[in-house]
Amino acid sequence: MKSHNPVVINVRIKIGDEIRELRAVWFEDGVVKLIDQRKLPGKFEIFEAKNAEEVAYAIKEMVVRGAPAIGITAAYGMAQAWLQKRKINQVYETLRNTRPTAHDLFYALNLMKKGIEEGEDAVSLAEKYASDIIGRCEKIGEHGEKIIKDGARILTHCNAGALAVGDWGTATAPIRKAHREGKRIFVWVDETRPRLQGARLTAWEMVQEGIEHAIIADNAAGFFMRKGEIDLVIVGADRIAANGDVANKIGTYEKAVVAHENGIPFYVAAPISTFDFSLKNGDEIPIEERREEEVLFCRDCRIAPQESKARNPAFDVTPAKYITGIITEMGIFKPEEIDKLRDRST
Ligand code: MRU
Repeated sequence: MKSHNPVVINVRIKIGDEIRELRAVWFEDGVVKLIDQRKLPGKFEIFEAKNAEEVAYAIKEMVVRGAPAIGITAAYGMAQAWLQKRKINQVYETLRNTRPTAHDLFYALNLMKKGIEEGEDAVSLAEKYASDIIGRCEKIGEHGEKIIKDGARILTHCNAGALAVGDWGTATAPIRKAHREGKRIFVWVDETRPRLQGARLTAWEMVQEGIEHAIIADNAAGFFMRKGEIDLVIVGADRIAANGDVANKIGTYEKAVVAHENGIPFYVAAPISTFDFSLKNGDEIPIEERREEEVLFCRDCRIAPQESKARNPAFDVTPAKYITGIITEMGIFKPEEIDKLRDRST
């Protein structure tokens, strides 16, 4: 693991005298390289995964996280295994058994396995996959920007930004586009316990992009909605079922219900790799439950009695009825309209 002390400018990272454009994950000299998201914003470190077991560790332990970034990491993991002449079916299983909820993981693995079986160059295929997903997210930005009015105050949950995809993010793509087009916007950032992806990662991205924002405790959004200080909610997704139900970071469901109660539009932003048309509805989405220590501790500090137990579901399901629209690379759809995208999902 290499440690640097960089100055970070948007997605350009200054390491020593060198300014580099970095993504959350990339493939270099046969190594899968990742910004270690567990350490941000305090430390900037690059994690190097040299084999499939280390790639699996990086996904499971959340060195990398966010549905599309997990998919891209898995694609590079398969390319690496192909270069190392490993048994592809074994590596496929190792990477599959990391995190169960984000559909992008399975989408990327299936695409890579099929390509390798058909004799394609796995490195080019993985690179193509990464740029394709990033391009799709830019399109999400172009479509989603239209729903953001000048002066809008937008709530987002977790991190569905550049760290979770590449250059644009999903939920943050419309936000970045609106900001770059000169619209005045303000972002409410849910802290997102227990892993604090909002406070640590989304806020870090907002600072890099120069977007005005404030972090709020997870239970504060309802307060600001009732006061009329939130105009719009945009979140990402980990898996979207055929009926438009959406699995996303734990706490998303509550935001959607309270937004509905207050007449605030609630949008989900996701590329086609996140859609799982094989599932009828959200009840069929597998929900990851993580270690109780993530709740019992905040960073290294135990915040609960020694005797206490905890439960730690990582995601919840927001029923389609609470979702105003799903922003995709192909446009914005009502949940009941997404069936139109089915043919484009393979
Ligand atoms: O547990 P995480 O950090 O991987 O969860 C991430 C989320 O829930 C994101 O909102 C989702 O993956 C969309 S990322 C573009």
